[in-house]
Amino acid sequence: MTHTIPLRQGLPDEMQVLLRAYPRDTWPDHPNFARSVRNWMGAHETFRALSGYVLDDTEAYLDRRLDDQDYAARLAKYGHVLVRNLHGHHHWEDTKFFPELGAAERNLIPGLDLLEADHTALDATLERFTRSANRVVQLAQLSPADMSPEVPEVHDSARDIAALLDRHLSDEEDLVVPIILHHQLRR
Ligand SMILES: [Fe+2]
Ligand SMILES: [Fe+2]
Repeated sequence: MTHTIPLRQGLPDEMQVLLRAYPRDTWPDHPNFARSVRNWMGAHETFRALSGYVLDDTEAYLDRRLDDQDYAARLAKYGHVLVRNLHGHHHWEDTKFFPELGAAERNLIPGLDLLEADHTALDATLERFTRSANRVVQLAQLSPADMSPEVPEVHDSARDIAALLDRHLSDEEDLVVPIILHHQLRR
């Protein structure tokens, strides 16, 4: 089954007011670019890398460049860390980080709502991925010969996760970092 995830092209124009005042290439040298914000962006880099590992490994398995057991072991390891850490990250953003940002910059609350809706869409895709990945990991132990028909669903959901994450993380950074720099938050 092929799923098509509708992707917006960057943040809507009216949500880029602060981004225009604080373009991305000025962030690293800005005095308000706090270590905690660098770390938060570092977590995003880790999510990009993990979702890339899962997708690349799945393609390697489908191309017969990775065997059953190696694929299942890597899928269990990277898939688990990706799903667990993303859930924790989203929960913290929804309950602590976004309310703090919204209180500082009320005009951009609709943008924060958009990001929260991304989390909901991502959660549904992560759930699909978890179900299919768990099946594959179990079959690798119980009946490796039956693994391969299940892997396209892992591939499909891993591709959706990578696409959703790619758009979400860059939009999130484009919305959030200028708010932090402008209001001197998280210092
Ligand atoms: Fe997020
Ligand atoms: Fe995030």
